[in-house]
Amino acid sequence: MTAQAGRVLIERGRIADRVRELGAKLTNDLRIDAAPHDTPGGPLGDAAYSEDEVVLIPVMLGAIVFAADLIRAMPLRMSIKPLVASSYAGATTRSSGMVHTGDIPEGLEGRHVVIVDDILDTGRTLAVIRDRVLEQNPASLRICVLLRKLKPRDAEVEAHYAGFDIPDEFVVGYGLDYDGLMRNLPDIVVLDGAGE
Ligand code: IMP
Ligand code: MG
Repeated sequence: MTAQAGRVLIERGRIADRVRELGAKLTNDLRIDAAPHDTPGGPLGDAAYSEDEVVLIPVMLGAIVFAADLIRAMPLRMSIKPLVASSYAGATTRSSGMVHTGDIPEGLEGRHVVIVDDILDTGRTLAVIRDRVLEQNPASLRICVLLRKLKPRDAEVEAHYAGFDIPDEFVVGYGLDYDGLMRNLPDIVVLDGAGE
């Protein structure tokens, strides 16, 4: 049986609502962090925030759709420095192959960094990326994922922000792929018949 999109796990309207919530929460937290602390009125006063210190790192390609929506729910100054990473050899293979992270963006020292990924699965990819970002001494580091699989992780890594906790099933859509395909499905659906 060929792999195909199965039942809808999270419908597009729910995704949109949740992404707006995540954007609002991140924006609020980043404003508190990035605000100069020596300004009258405190971090939430009228002072100009150092929002240009915020750097978002979407982990491509999986985070492409999520990041596109999330950044439009974050009304603050930020730069976006994508990173290309992959941990799957292909299809839904779970044999723990190597984690390939492309070049880690530079110039992160002293910046408020947010790593944005589609899904926290084994945690191997995000653990490697997190450690390599931390080598640059950012002022703060947050990890935001749309999905978090409920399962034990191979690598110790926590997401500070997670859109939805989901069962340990292979899902596609809203940026998540099966062998490079189905990223453009608007809903998050369970993959049927992958045969692996
Ligand atoms: P991890 O290193 O095992 O946490 O896997 C990270 C990457 O594997 C994610 O960013 C996804 O690209 C991919 N991945 C993990 N689970 C799924 C899934 O259910 N569907 C599609 N891609 C997945
Ligand atoms: Mg990915």
